[in-house]
Amino acid sequence: MIRLDFSNSCIAPAEVLALEPEVLAAAEELRAQTLAYSAWIDYPLYLSDTLLKNIEADAVAIRKHSSAFVLIGIGGSYLGSRAALNMLQHTFHNELSAGQRGRDPKIYYAGHHLSSSYYAELLDVLAYEDVSVCVISKSGGTMESAAAFSIFKELLEHKYGAQAADRIYAITDASAGSLRAESDELGYHSYEVPTDIGGRYSVLSPVGLLPMAVAGIPIRRVIEGAREEYEALCTNTIKDNPAYQYAALRRLLNRQGKQIEIFESYEPKLQYFMEWLKQLFGESEGKEGQGLFPASLMFTTDLHSMGQYLQQGTPNFFETILHVMRSERHTSAKLPGQRDYQSIHTLNQIVEAGVVTAHSRDAIPNLTIGVDALSPESFGALVYFFELACAVSCRLLGVNPFDQPGVEQYKQAVRELLNK
Ligand code: PA5
Repeated sequence: MIRLDFSNSCIAPAEVLALEPEVLAAAEELRAQTLAYSAWIDYPLYLSDTLLKNIEADAVAIRKHSSAFVLIGIGGSYLGSRAALNMLQHTFHNELSAGQRGRDPKIYYAGHHLSSSYYAELLDVLAYEDVSVCVISKSGGTMESAAAFSIFKELLEHKYGAQAADRIYAITDASAGSLRAESDELGYHSYEVPTDIGGRYSVLSPVGLLPMAVAGIPIRRVIEGAREEYEALCTNTIKDNPAYQYAALRRLLNRQGKQIEIFESYEPKLQYFMEWLKQLFGESEGKEGQGLFPASLMFTTDLHSMGQYLQQGTPNFFETILHVMRSERHTSAKLPGQRDYQSIHTLNQIVEAGVVTAHSRDAIPNLTIGVDALSPESFGALVYFFELACAVSCRLLGVNPFDQPGVEQYKQAVRELLNK
């Protein structure tokens, strides 16, 4: 389902093939699940029908009694869901009329920063809505999510009194942390974050699946896409495995002195997927004084701000383009008049090809990772593809893809200040 084109990467296929022994050793180690937090690798295969049915049933209930759904979480407990909803919901979802939206509640995000203006203004909006809240935190103690949850819990208590708990969905560790204790005590609906999967690898678990189901996304199709990609990437060679090739290319480009990987997309529906990618690669790989710095640009918008730098600035980066072959809405965005290209989508594709040509002429390495269309299946496949490629990349570099000691350091420093 996922295709990789590295014909403009400035790396010869033979160089990629030469890395095969290291790549296969890394993949074998990951598949053996010897490192802690590596259960994501085959998790989609073992997701139970019962769990999917429970998620679907809760989503039906939420959609029935809520006009607004507040999704609280940060980092791995937020970005994957937002990426899915950004990719698969209507771009102007919250602005659609109630008739157009049907049972899809408006979606609002919280817990991903500490802006008092944002929360005050979100409360203004929610005053006129029927609200349900989903709080996601694996540790159950992340300060941003806990602070936001306290605000929206109070709103629910104010609106619904003793019935408030029935509108709260907590997704957290099975037994540890204060959110689990509170959820058990007050009787929230709850799901477990799988113990052996870390935040940024958890989007295909209840962490991402409940918000997707609430948004009306068919979660079984997402999982089907991930399963198909799992099968496609279960190979013992590098030559027919685009995820292994991509991991090898990242390593080779890094060895050649490239320090930055810029994810680029011509589709705004992929903006949050690129945010998720930045977390996935940044938090997994940036360790021990190593790792590519992941950045992202939205095209064509950023061609008019960053295009000059890309073409002629410091050449310490390579580009990874997320290419979408087909637009579901291309027929309804036709350009009036007679032209060789008839739709905005075709025009977008022509610009993409032109930029690749221009950058290639200046020897800027370009990789293209493509899907046919934006669909639930392609979301599941993309998530699985990048998780595998990221974990293999990290092992090629010799770092642990599944810990985040640097994040823990800042959390600890904040705790110390709060305790003073
Ligand atoms: O990927 C990660 O592990 C982090 O980004 C966490 O998801 C993030 O810090 C939030 O943690 P928690 O889910 O414990 O609230």
